[in-house]
Amino acid sequence: MLAYIGKQLGHPTSSVAGWLVSKILRAKNRVLEENAVRLCGIQPGDTVLELGYGPGLGLQAAARLLTHPTGAVIGVDYSKYMHQMAGELVKDLVASGKVTLYHCDVAAMPLADSTVDRVFHSNCYYFWPDLRKGATEIHRVMKPGGVMVTTLRTSHLVVLSSRGVFPGDNWCPEKYMAALTDSGFTDVRMDDVQHSNITFQAIYATATK
Ligand SMILES: C[S@@+](CC[C@H](N)C(=O)[O-])C[C@H]1O[C@@H](n2cnc3c(N)ncnc32)[C@H](O)[C@@H]1O
Repeated sequence: MLAYIGKQLGHPTSSVAGWLVSKILRAKNRVLEENAVRLCGIQPGDTVLELGYGPGLGLQAAARLLTHPTGAVIGVDYSKYMHQMAGELVKDLVASGKVTLYHCDVAAMPLADSTVDRVFHSNCYYFWPDLRKGATEIHRVMKPGGVMVTTLRTSHLVVLSSRGVFPGDNWCPEKYMAALTDSGFTDVRMDDVQHSNITFQAIYATATK
């Protein structure tokens, strides 16, 4: 049962379980999503990429900061159900051209090399079968000096992993950080962050070329 929920967390489908997962994501993940946006230091004219946007809360938060006409958000998620759900949430931003959503895999994004200033993601990399492939693809699309941030709660991940929610051990922050370093990122580090009464972690990485 927990493995099935894990499967839905990693790739929500249009089903009762997928709908429940989307409710949980909206109710529980706002703090991590909004802090990922805050911590990646978005400037008003940046091109910002969110990986695995799920229901779309982070897309909205990022778009609010992009007040310059050149500022734009790109989102990628390979769940058709999340693509439809987030597309509905941000439909006005999509219509105005501020947000562009792609229904695709992080490991193969339809984006040109060196075009993205900031990347953020929350609760996403745990499900990638090949962390190195994902990290290399993120690095490819980022401009030199661009910053990537992911937010996570390691205490929750340890519990979920012990219950078999994740397919393997790719959720381990150390594995993802090693993949980022191997893919050419520098200054890879993980910090504890306090928000109200919640402690979570943020992994930072800077793109080089
Ligand atoms: C647990 S949900 C998190 C959603 C949202 N970031 C949040 O925190 O509420 C993980 C999301 O990442 C997406 N995802 C996972 N692996 C992916 C991949 N390799 N490529 C694209 N999207 C992926 C899933 O479809 C899902 O929408």
